[in-house]
Amino acid sequence: MHTRMDRRDFILTGSATLASLLALRGSPAFSQPAEKVFSQHLSADLPLLFGADYYPDQTPDSLWEEDAAAMAAAGIMNVRIAEFAWALMEPQEGSFDFKWLERVVGILHAHQIAVILGTPSAAPPPWLTQKYPEVLMVNEHGMTLSPGTRRFTCPTNATYRRLSLAIATQMARTFASTPGVIGWQIDNELTLGDSARCYCRFCREGFQQWLREKYHSLDAINQAWGTVFWSNTYTDFAQIPVPLPSGAPPNPGFALDYDRYQSYANVSFLEEQLNVLHRLCPNHFATTNNVGLADTIDLRDLYRNLDFVAADNYPGFFAIYLSTADSGVSLPPDAVSTMVAFGHDFMRSMKDGEPFLIMEEQTGKAGQPFFSPQPEPGQLRLWSYQAVAHGAMGINYFRWDTANFGAEEYWHGLLRHDRSHSPGFEEIQQTIRELKSLGRDALNARYEAELALCVDPNSDWALTIQPGQPKLKYLSEVVPWYGSMAASHTGVDIVNATQDLAQYKVLCAPVMYIVSQQQADRIRSFVENGGTFIAGFRLGVKDEHSRIVNTPLPGLLRDVMGVELFDYQPIYSEKQTVQFSGPLAGANADCRIWADILNPQKADVLATYIGGDYAGKAAITSNSYGRGKAIYIGAHLEAADLARVLLTLVAMSGVTRPIQAPPGIEVTTRRAGRRTWTYVLNHTAKSQSVTVGGGYRDLFSKSAISGPISMEPYGVRVLVQA
Ligand code: GAL
Ligand code: ZN
Repeated sequence: MHTRMDRRDFILTGSATLASLLALRGSPAFSQPAEKVFSQHLSADLPLLFGADYYPDQTPDSLWEEDAAAMAAAGIMNVRIAEFAWALMEPQEGSFDFKWLERVVGILHAHQIAVILGTPSAAPPPWLTQKYPEVLMVNEHGMTLSPGTRRFTCPTNATYRRLSLAIATQMARTFASTPGVIGWQIDNELTLGDSARCYCRFCREGFQQWLREKYHSLDAINQAWGTVFWSNTYTDFAQIPVPLPSGAPPNPGFALDYDRYQSYANVSFLEEQLNVLHRLCPNHFATTNNVGLADTIDLRDLYRNLDFVAADNYPGFFAIYLSTADSGVSLPPDAVSTMVAFGHDFMRSMKDGEPFLIMEEQTGKAGQPFFSPQPEPGQLRLWSYQAVAHGAMGINYFRWDTANFGAEEYWHGLLRHDRSHSPGFEEIQQTIRELKSLGRDALNARYEAELALCVDPNSDWALTIQPGQPKLKYLSEVVPWYGSMAASHTGVDIVNATQDLAQYKVLCAPVMYIVSQQQADRIRSFVENGGTFIAGFRLGVKDEHSRIVNTPLPGLLRDVMGVELFDYQPIYSEKQTVQFSGPLAGANADCRIWADILNPQKADVLATYIGGDYAGKAAITSNSYGRGKAIYIGAHLEAADLARVLLTLVAMSGVTRPIQAPPGIEVTTRRAGRRTWTYVLNHTAKSQSVTVGGGYRDLFSKSAISGPISMEPYGVRVLVQA
């Protein structure tokens, strides 16, 4: 079945598996984009982007002045506004009204609050859908979405694009030199609607056109997808359908190309607005916001031409759903913080480690139909530091006030419904003060990573199209691997293995179902040059067209891995046990969901299946290749076993832990030249102790520290080395 991975899907299905799998655990000086922001809009060395998401469009104008004064008093230096205010800015087609917005920008500027303007294409007004109902998205069931909410439009539709571009252009002309305006957010969370992909007739035509450009001929398409199967041979581009419900599951190559087309359609939709903004507002930055999880857009493409990455962070959202999704599983203490950390690292990595902006950060109870509890005292501060620890250069808190109406009236902001301070207000005010005092060097330093995790949308989408076993889900595999790696406290970057990997000591690749020639070449030279490559089951099964390779598995990488697959096996009720040996020796583990059964050619065996049909066959192997090592983990392991195995392998690769910390404590480091800032974060409700080597100074107490130090519940320490 061809399913999507959007917020709703994650909630309903993905998180159940994920919850049960989460691990039990715990350069150049400054970046270009940050310089663009700082040099043009800021005096001296003040950090800028500590702000709030503000909705003057939902607030009586009599309160704007009071709001601006209160924000300034709270230390807020910028706001993001207007991203859903299309109906007010263009009350009828072609008639624009920015007077109200100019007025509110003026008031904010008078209080020295800078403004990020949102283009409003995520929420087209009713006049638009009444006149042009063809802009509505058709979801994967073939159902046309109803308007009246947001994010219900087709990314291909020319009318929607024309009207989105028109309002963005008018905004850009109006505000290009308005004092106080510093940059733009284009649209809002392009894929996080309830339906993440469109299957309408315009997308079908767009797909056909995209295929023409990609393949040039129908022959090439028929060949790539293998359309001879079930008599699908296309003799006219106009025959090519979209993967709507049919009589049987779609051709996997066709379905994967459709996912790629939808990603392209969203990127090109965004870039139409981006080109105009860059042309008309050369002094402004432009970005867009997303949640850092595997997505239906290839976020590397989306952010490529944007000035920096912006991300939205709602730990409470993970908390609600991880806890309800899988009754009976008690979550490890850092289940939520691991997902949040993964999200941050994912987003930072979309632009190769440049500092990113948190465009929306949770400030209180959060949710739509259900909402998360009020964060514990200390947690809001901790989450802000966590973002900075993973490479954020600033944070915008969502939202300034709390709406008394609308679908998000329970999404709690810094002010309550009666406009008094929320329970978290003072903590956030204090946090903003502290984070500013870190200074711009700290906020623009590079995050350090010795480990890399391969996350590739091609493998994600292809596995979603064809999971093999219903419980096999890409994100549910990747996050526990991430959690295990992060526990090494040496930093994790997310890569797609198409770039040079020489800077890393270890590269991990869970379910790298598709391996392209370029990826295989990169991985081969990484290992040749001394790197440790650790792959999970389902490695290199398919090529870029989603065709299964016609060599023994793992296809292009079998020489590097030094193994060939004897067989692969989805596991349902049968019990399969793994026995470890050599450096991995330890208690036996259960293998559920999937087993690749390995036949070593050159590799050494580190674990073996015992019992069942494959008793005695290899489950984990390690191969010396060039100056490096390639390890194949064929068995699907439970989170705790996976964590033990991965941490042992990481340690064997020569990575050393600078700080010894128990589960639930996170450690990350950012560096500018010789200066480092190490963030130690306690995500648990209890005091914990960590052991620190010499040479550190505590940034808050200013005193030198070493040896065991205590961490308060939800406590934060920043350790500096110069
Ligand atoms: C974000 C979104 C915001 C708001 C917020 C709370 O994902 O960008 O517009 O909806 O969540 O739901
Ligand atoms: Zn469409």
